Amino acid sequence: MRGIVKSFGPVEVLKSVDMDIVAGEVHALAGENGAGKSTLMKVLQGVHPITSGTIEVAGQPVAIRTTADAERAGIGMVFQEFSLIPSMTVAQNIFLNREVRGKSGLVDDRAAEMAAREIFDGLGVTIDPKARVETLGTAYWQLVEIAKALAKNASVLVMDEPTASLAKHEVENLFELIDKLKSRGIAIVYISHRMDEIRRVADRITVLRDGRVVLAAGVAQLTAAEIIEAIIGRRLASDLVYRDRQLATDAPIVLEATDIGSGRVLKSVSLTIRAGEIVGLAGLMGSGRTEFARVVAGMDRPTRGTLSIDGKVVRFSTPIAAQQAGIALIPEDRRDQGLVLEHSVSENLALPVLDRVKSGAFLSMTKLRELTNQLVTRFGVKVADPYAPVSRLSGGNQQKVVVAKWINTRPRILVMDEPTSGVDIGTKTEILDIVREFASEGNAVLFISSELPELLAVADRIVVFREGRSDRELDRDDIASEEQLQLIIQGEAA
Ligand SMILES: Nc1ncnc2c1ncn2[C@@H]1O[C@H](COP(=O)(O)OP(=O)(O)OP(=O)(O)O)[C@@H](O)[C@H]1O
Ligand SMILES: [Mg+2]
Repeated sequence: MRGIVKSFGPVEVLKSVDMDIVAGEVHALAGENGAGKSTLMKVLQGVHPITSGTIEVAGQPVAIRTTADAERAGIGMVFQEFSLIPSMTVAQNIFLNREVRGKSGLVDDRAAEMAAREIFDGLGVTIDPKARVETLGTAYWQLVEIAKALAKNASVLVMDEPTASLAKHEVENLFELIDKLKSRGIAIVYISHRMDEIRRVADRITVLRDGRVVLAAGVAQLTAAEIIEAIIGRRLASDLVYRDRQLATDAPIVLEATDIGSGRVLKSVSLTIRAGEIVGLAGLMGSGRTEFARVVAGMDRPTRGTLSIDGKVVRFSTPIAAQQAGIALIPEDRRDQGLVLEHSVSENLALPVLDRVKSGAFLSMTKLRELTNQLVTRFGVKVADPYAPVSRLSGGNQQKVVVAKWINTRPRILVMDEPTSGVDIGTKTEILDIVREFASEGNAVLFISSELPELLAVADRIVVFREGRSDRELDRDDIASEEQLQLIIQGEAA
């Protein structure tokens, strides 16, 4: 790719970007939220036509204006938001729009299933091509996406934050698969915010900042600090380190859960959070963390146990009732639950606090503008036009809008489920600072995260969930290392 420029209206998002992708390499693409990573790859994919620049594949100039052009050029993509049709089978998805047909011209499902099985065998994974996609877990959806690209003979495979929804062991499986693809000569572009992953999997790295390449080099020659500095354009002021906030041990208990159970997953959870405290929830996928968050936020009803706030037992019949009691939930899945995508950034921010932007019975444009400016600045949301649809923001910036929106409701209890997923490293430390500040005002925070360095940086106490139960409780000071916590989560520590 040479001199790639991409503008959306007057906004130039890519400003003359060069990138070489070599057969059999893993090429990391890094940069802050909104730097232009996804846009650069969408250009290669024919989702957005380029404004100017040239693309060559194997030495031949190609015009990529549609996704069909990209497919013909051998470029495949594993989308951040999956593109599969849940009600169809694995094989049907892999051969969608290119159905395998028999002599009679009818769709031949058997032949498609055999072809799919062959691809999976080549990857060394077992998936039933006849299974409907909706019956499979997220990790398998991704494998189906990869198989779909391979069925089209892709020689370049783009993965946009592929590990965001994977558990630890699934990540390791993905890396093994990537090694296999590499050895077949397939080039992989790997977009990620996680430094450990980049160092583990990538051969070379290109870093974008504000739509320009600021670093392109072999990963082995670089330290993590050098990569981070290229990404954020300065040294990281405060890394992910724990700060003891000197909690009063006699602070009143704000939230108390006693023997909470719900649905099939959640069996028995008991925990307390004091005023000013940040309690972290750790556990494997499926251990019940998200399910517990949903009960606290009034989205699911407990089938056993009690929940009290400030010493009074509460029973929420709706999420609104929980909100009125001072609880805010930042949900795990921002696209489904966190945002109204076709609404503007400003409308999304104002939605839960409409009373504050009214003047009498009417919406006050002045107050709306004030609120928007204040939150966009405080949370560093990178947005060209806050009155345009939030769907135009980069992934990480959408997540910042979700966090800003809920903290701004000034809840008494804030429940955050994987709040920094897809957020760049500079912003992550800023969000953790905001959470600490919020807790220090005497509020309670329940912080769920699968990223242990982050959990260890922010939580004063960590409750480890296991098979739907609150299994252990650890003071931050009693945890010596990330490895120790990892072992406890896996159930392998004494
Ligand atoms: N369809 C669009 N219309 C207008 N602006 C857009 C559109 N798509 C992306 N942008 C803008 O282009 C810029 C780059 O976005 P992009 O999604 O490429 O960032 P990114 O590097 O992938 O960030 P993240 O790490 O948050 O995913 C952002 O400022 C975004 O708002
Ligand atoms: Mg992106």
